[in-house]
Amino acid sequence: MTLAARDVCWSAGGRMIVDGVTLRAEPGKILGLIGPNGSGKSSLLRLLCRLRKVASGVVTLDDREIGTLSRHHLARRLAFVEQQATTEIQLSVCDVVRLGRTPHRSALASWAAADEDAVEAALARVDMTDRHDQFWHTLSGGERQRVHIARALAQMPSELILDEPTNHLDIQHQLSILTLIRRLGITCIMALHDLNLASLFCDEIAVLHEGKLVDAGTPESVMTEALIQRVFGVAVAIRRAASGRRHIEYLIEPF
Ligand SMILES: Nc1ncnc2c1ncn2[C@@H]1O[C@H](COP(=O)(O)OP(=O)(O)O)[C@@H](O)[C@H]1O
Ligand SMILES: [Mg+2]
Repeated sequence: MTLAARDVCWSAGGRMIVDGVTLRAEPGKILGLIGPNGSGKSSLLRLLCRLRKVASGVVTLDDREIGTLSRHHLARRLAFVEQQATTEIQLSVCDVVRLGRTPHRSALASWAAADEDAVEAALARVDMTDRHDQFWHTLSGGERQRVHIARALAQMPSELILDEPTNHLDIQHQLSILTLIRRLGITCIMALHDLNLASLFCDEIAVLHEGKLVDAGTPESVMTEALIQRVFGVAVAIRRAASGRRHIEYLIEPF
């Protein structure tokens, strides 16, 4: 049992943004969150890591309501990679990744070899070792994204929440980041836009539409032609590729 939401609601500007969502991340599995723009994915992820407070319902970590956990305890368990993360511009790449070690150090403890090892390992995993000393503000969007993922990895969480982690990444880095996340073997919830990548890399898929959970289950059972048409408003044909994997083809009007 890890992270779970039960009947969670959150409203803003007089509108219900997350509307009675119940879902559960299976230990060691990847749960993909899909849904159109504005369907409430980012809002839900922020509720799951307590960056926002639920209006009603509960979020639990190992059956304990997250509101009752200390900030320190939560930070040692759970890492969050935001959709558009920003960082103090005068920091270098390694400074940003070092921030991920904060929950593991007491106020008086000096920087330990184990901390440095975790930082270096995290940078290597996102292929950014050679940018160790580069200033954050000089990085491209994709490089910033990879550094923020490295910060989360340096945190060594048991639950990882990512909001569109492949945003800004070229296809090679999209695939390498998703492969890396798969190999971590930790519980992961991530919002993804690319339906084929979601289907390929996630164990389970949850679909949000207008703040409500429409369906959840294996990619195969959830991502049907009818559901994609209904939720995203696009016609698709789902075929099996030569590799045996499912492929979602978008049926577009002739030009
Ligand atoms: N603080 C806020 N105040 C008012 N509306 C908000 C706030 N945060 C999010 N929203 C609205 O909630 C809806 C869902 O947003 P979001 O969770 O970012 O969706 P998604 O990540 O699926 O694109 C959007 O219509 C957005 O404008
Ligand atoms: Mg979003």
